[in-house]
Amino acid sequence: MALPKTPSPFPSPSFSLLLSLLFLALQSPLSFSADTISSNFSISGDQKLTSKGGDFVLGFFSPSNSSKYYIGIWYKKVSQQTPVWVANRETPVSDKTKSELRLSDDGNLVLLNQSQTQIWSTNTSISAKSTVAVLQDSGNLVLADGSNSSRILWQSIDHPTHTWLPGGKLGLNKVTKQNQRLISWRSSADPAPGIFSLELDPNGSSQYFIQWNKSVQYWTSGTWNGKIFSGVPEMTANYNYDFKYVNDSDESYFTYSVKYPSVISRFVMDFSGRIQQLTWMEDSQEWILFWAQPRALCEVYSLCGPFGSCSESSGTFCKCVKGFVARNQTEWDLQDQTGGCVRRTPLQCGSNNSANVGKDGFYPMDSVKLPVNHQNLDVGSAEDCESACLNNCSCTAYSFSGGCSVWHGDLINLQEQYNGSNGGTLYLRLAALELAASELPDSTSKKGTVVGAVAGAVAGLVVCLFIVRVLIRRRQKRRRIHAVKAVGRALVPFRYSDLQHFTKNFSEKLGGGGFGSVFKGFLSDSIAIAVKKLEGLHLHGEKQFRSEVSTIGTVQHVNLVRLLGFCSEGAKSLLVYEFMPKGSLDTQLFQNNSMVLDWNTRYRIALGTARGLVYLHEKCRDCIIHCDIKPENILLDASFVPKVADFGLAKLVGRDFSRVLTTMRGTRGYLAPEWITGVAITAKADVYSYGMMLLEIISGRRNSEQTEEGKAAFFPALAATRLAQGDVGSLADHRLGDDVSIEELERACKVACWCIQDDERSRPTMGQVVQILEGFLEISMPPIPRSLQVLAESPENINFFSDLSSNQSSRTRSATSTGSQVKSTASRSSNV
Ligand SMILES: *[C@@H]1O[C@H](CO)[C@@H](O)[C@H](O)[C@H]1NC(C)=O
Ligand SMILES: *[C@@H]1O[C@H](CO)[C@@H](O)[C@H](O)[C@H]1NC(C)=O
Ligand SMILES: *[C@@H]1O[C@H](CO)[C@@H](O)[C@H](O)[C@H]1NC(C)=O
Ligand SMILES: *[C@@H]1O[C@H](CO)[C@@H](O)[C@H](O)[C@H]1NC(C)=O
Ligand SMILES: *[C@@H]1O[C@H](CO)[C@@H](O)[C@H](O)[C@H]1NC(C)=O
Ligand SMILES: *[C@@H]1O[C@H](CO)[C@@H](O)[C@H](O)[C@H]1NC(C)=O
Ligand SMILES: *[C@@H]1O[C@H](CO)[C@@H](O)[C@H](O)[C@H]1NC(C)=O
Ligand SMILES: *[C@@H]1O[C@H](CO)[C@@H](O)[C@H](O)[C@H]1NC(C)=O
Ligand SMILES: *[C@@H]1O[C@H](CO)[C@@H](O)[C@H](O)[C@H]1NC(C)=O
Ligand SMILES: *[C@@H]1O[C@H](CO)[C@@H](O)[C@H](O)[C@H]1NC(C)=O
Ligand SMILES: *[C@@H]1O[C@H](CO)[C@@H](O)[C@H](O)[C@H]1NC(C)=O
Ligand SMILES: *[C@@H]1O[C@H](CO)[C@@H](O)[C@H](O)[C@H]1NC(C)=O
Repeated sequence: MALPKTPSPFPSPSFSLLLSLLFLALQSPLSFSADTISSNFSISGDQKLTSKGGDFVLGFFSPSNSSKYYIGIWYKKVSQQTPVWVANRETPVSDKTKSELRLSDDGNLVLLNQSQTQIWSTNTSISAKSTVAVLQDSGNLVLADGSNSSRILWQSIDHPTHTWLPGGKLGLNKVTKQNQRLISWRSSADPAPGIFSLELDPNGSSQYFIQWNKSVQYWTSGTWNGKIFSGVPEMTANYNYDFKYVNDSDESYFTYSVKYPSVISRFVMDFSGRIQQLTWMEDSQEWILFWAQPRALCEVYSLCGPFGSCSESSGTFCKCVKGFVARNQTEWDLQDQTGGCVRRTPLQCGSNNSANVGKDGFYPMDSVKLPVNHQNLDVGSAEDCESACLNNCSCTAYSFSGGCSVWHGDLINLQEQYNGSNGGTLYLRLAALELAASELPDSTSKKGTVVGAVAGAVAGLVVCLFIVRVLIRRRQKRRRIHAVKAVGRALVPFRYSDLQHFTKNFSEKLGGGGFGSVFKGFLSDSIAIAVKKLEGLHLHGEKQFRSEVSTIGTVQHVNLVRLLGFCSEGAKSLLVYEFMPKGSLDTQLFQNNSMVLDWNTRYRIALGTARGLVYLHEKCRDCIIHCDIKPENILLDASFVPKVADFGLAKLVGRDFSRVLTTMRGTRGYLAPEWITGVAITAKADVYSYGMMLLEIISGRRNSEQTEEGKAAFFPALAATRLAQGDVGSLADHRLGDDVSIEELERACKVACWCIQDDERSRPTMGQVVQILEGFLEISMPPIPRSLQVLAESPENINFFSDLSSNQSSRTRSATSTGSQVKSTASRSSNV
């Protein structure tokens, strides 16, 4: 049907018709893509403003799970409606068709509800004859003089709500004393100002605070040193934003821009009490949490409200303490838990009721982070402390460790399963009735330990029984549950109680990664296993979990850690892996006390890891991108054969990359730049991380060793520079002495440097990496990656460079000559 048209030098009649229509459309204030509210164009019902370039929309919206309407601005190109600004945060309307956003007679932009009452206004004094309101492509709504549109009278970006957009200011007007703080929504369904806010220090320093109820400050960014905030060292890895600090006589503020204009990114003060950086992934049509502070949700002040307790190891974080229920279940379910919890049963203390209902008592809570605002009492014993609390009706809890602490009124910031310094046992005051109820689970748990002890005594028998039981259960399940068919034949479905037993109730912790803690256990005397307790699972439903796990189970290669089985019971999801006696690569590489890995072993580890990744990327049925390659995730068996761990989990746990970033404080820089720029993630992201890790294998130290606050040294920049100068010898771990093959060293350095190129198309595939390391493929001299050039030029690295040179001066000298020889033999460019 597509007949080729004869090209004509003159516009065809239909084309000129189109042109004139377009012309009319631009003239008419009622055009479909209006970006301006004028005296004779207002917004009502489903009408919208669209910014000129089509980036932002303004109109009435209703948050999910809300029946109320708000005037807001959101992204046109983002499929999940994401409001970045809200006009009437506190005064929603219920009927949008009868409500109107228009210019009032005095020139202000106002919102009228269905009874024509003004419920929101730009509320500024106006000295112009007429005004217009224009929605700009930056997401800014500007009220300007109608006869001179560059005279701005009011703009939304000066009145941010919970979002800080690129180009927006966040600071302090020194003249009006107005503080442009970001204030969280109350919940996902309610844009009204919540209890958490972010603002620039009102006293004039260059640091941001996050505050609870505008009074309690629980996070600070640290001051600005011209490049980064001292409390946010990971900013150096984030070369995607340009931040600017302005401090003059009228105002002080920060503003930022995004280097890649196509990237949709924003900062949000979230209702969970954290400042978050989110980037829209066009590919997967979702917002990716890239960065958040405070890192641990439980560090948010009063996140769970009075008598709520927070736990980092539970997926839901907040729960009410024993004997308490949510104050408002509706809000609690909407994730607004700041209202906290109330007593289910009132205390007896202070009531006249002398009937025989028993007295109040105390419920012990072990390993908790003690709440804030305690009072110290000068009593000598735990008994005296208890009775002091019991005798004062306003006392709600006490704790005795050395001294006596008591709490009056609300308990705030209680954290469970806490292991830090201000932890201990808290005795919570409860009515006798509640205490009686709490006895029940206690007695069963005692019974449980008895059973456990007996079981321990006949461990051998249990193992036999276990195998029999697995066989029986598998037969039963095959009959009953279809989902189990999806599980690969080799995978064993474990029961939680069995795993508890094998791991001696999870007593020997091997480590904790981004996805959960790992514990050692024994299937029998000889078969050691590693059991991973998954945390923060995004999957809901056992079926999906099983099908993901079965996929992981089918991926088997000598350089991949083997999955033996799994457990999925209610909220508990665990994976059982073969145990790796030599631990993870980071402990072998970076710990001073351990034996130094020789060069040969290192090279074999690099090659084996690359082979494991080739298998993940190319050989198994669905390409698996690992997403988190770093030394912690390379495990070593008894003969130092490397095995890649944690593959396939990124999909299970979801793409909350703040978890990945959590590990970046000390060891930043495994993440490829495309994580930040928001383009689709391919296997080349793993190649980048592999390159960064290869450099660490070479140097035997972390690429970035934080020397002091905010000042960082970055080995890859040095390596790329030295390589270009033909001086690779100085890059190898100095503990190796002369035990280094300069030829292999140079090959490894070149591969690493090609892997960490900014442009993913320049990076080799893992298949090519293997061929190069094996010596079957020639490799040319890599350019210094652009992002590293910047680092190499920055002055704070100079000290580091010279420190390193002086430490290794002898090695440097001997290696330089070899280096240049190698350089001359390094041959023509390969295709890499
Ligand atoms: C819009 O209002 C202006 C005066 O404010 C008037 O001149 C113009 O004709 C109006 N346009 C329409 C389409 O009503
Ligand atoms: C809306 O409410 C339903 C039911 O209460 C809940 O399942 C859903 O997650 C809520 N959606 C959002 C975005 O909060
Ligand atoms: C309009 O707003 C006024 C003032 O807030 C309020 O009293 C009135 O009930 C609102 N009308 C409707 C129909 O919501
Ligand atoms: C409008 O601003 C004035 C001061 O400029 C203030 O007193 C008044 O409360 C404001 N009104 C509203 C509705 O915000
Ligand atoms: C328009 O307003 C801007 C900013 O207030 C001013 O600099 C400019 O001179 C004005 N232009 C005219 C034509 O009045
Ligand atoms: C600001 O300064 C005042 C007085 O110097 C002090 O009381 C207050 O705590 C300071 N505020 C902050 C947030 O540092
Ligand atoms: C900002 O400027 C004021 C003087 O205008 C100065 O006193 C203050 O120290 C400056 N603040 C910072 C953080 O540089
Ligand atoms: C927040 O502070 C105000 C006083 O500034 C107080 O009235 C209010 O009760 C506080 N809110 C909470 C939840 O404590
Ligand atoms: C719970 O909170 C919701 C939303 O804030 C409110 O509409 C409702 O009235 C509250 N319920 C109770 C019992 O306080
Ligand atoms: C105590 O009992 C008296 C009379 O029975 C009653 O008036 C009073 O309110 C009671 N006080 C409390 C705290 O319950
Ligand atoms: C209970 O403790 C509070 C806070 O320490 C104190 O103000 C109050 O007087 C005490 N009440 C009694 C009856 O001792
Ligand atoms: C608590 O810390 C100690 C020592 O730091 C450690 O041995 C123990 O395993 C930790 N417990 C938990 C539950 O993390």
